[in-house]
Amino acid sequence: MRHLLSLEDAARDDLESILDDADGFVEVLDRPIPKVPALRGKTVATVFFEPSTRTRLSFERAAKALSADTLSFSPGTSSLSKGESLKDTVLTLRSMGADLMVVRHRAVGAAVRVAEWSGVPVVNGGDGAHQHPTQALLDALTVRRHFGKVEGLEVAIVGDIRHSRVARSGVDCFSALGARVTLVAPRTLLPVTYDGWPVAVASGIDEVLETADVVYLLRVQAERGGAAVFPSLPEYVSRFGLTRSRFARMRPESIVMHPGPMNRGVEIADDVADDPRTLVLDQVRMGVAVRMAVLFRLLGGDQE
Ligand code: CP
Repeated sequence: MRHLLSLEDAARDDLESILDDADGFVEVLDRPIPKVPALRGKTVATVFFEPSTRTRLSFERAAKALSADTLSFSPGTSSLSKGESLKDTVLTLRSMGADLMVVRHRAVGAAVRVAEWSGVPVVNGGDGAHQHPTQALLDALTVRRHFGKVEGLEVAIVGDIRHSRVARSGVDCFSALGARVTLVAPRTLLPVTYDGWPVAVASGIDEVLETADVVYLLRVQAERGGAAVFPSLPEYVSRFGLTRSRFARMRPESIVMHPGPMNRGVEIADDVADDPRTLVLDQVRMGVAVRMAVLFRLLGGDQE
């Protein structure tokens, strides 16, 4: 693997192999000193042109747990405001010694361009509404560790699918691993076309509550126009929000997931967000382990 840009057409064996490595790194993170020297001397750059809490910080945490150094680029404090291009920014970071770049950008395909220019491995940390591969991998790891498998599970992805890179990567990853995925959204928040996607579609959350093993909630992405396509938030909550009474109808062994950031009171009720069956914080923890596995693989870490 030279880069991690997308999970479209990902092979099941490759996904399982990354998840197996990540399981090993969960064990490292549970040690009293959660650090190994595998990437000593390497430098990981996080190059984020959109806001992030989880993805950026967990890549930095993962790099440090592997003993790599980090470089952190933020547009607000950079020379972008003086007109510097993405390409020159990337070449500058490369000249400072970045051995790998994690890129987030609003433009679909930005990470692919960075991979062409930089000459180093690139991880897509989210490009527009296209792909967010490490999010899907951490979600799959969370599900696999909880249920002991992904194969055969019913995963309902609920919310603003049209604007969601998490949904696209999630469909690719969960279906490649043998889960059955149902998209649940108002027509206006479904993609313009989902021909060829291996999914079923439902028009309201009530249709999946009693059958789903995983109810995976998405935020309405106001910054990409998601809030402009339904009449009001109360109307959205009435058909798609996971309220306490809906949560009570879910099967007792089923779980709730969310990539974060959550909008409490919209897609998820406040007390459902804090319920032990809502695995949001497990997802965050698995994110560090998955990103360790990805960095280790791309930077050819010492097998010891
Ligand atoms: N899930 C996710 O990508 O979160 P951030 O936007 O905080 O990185």
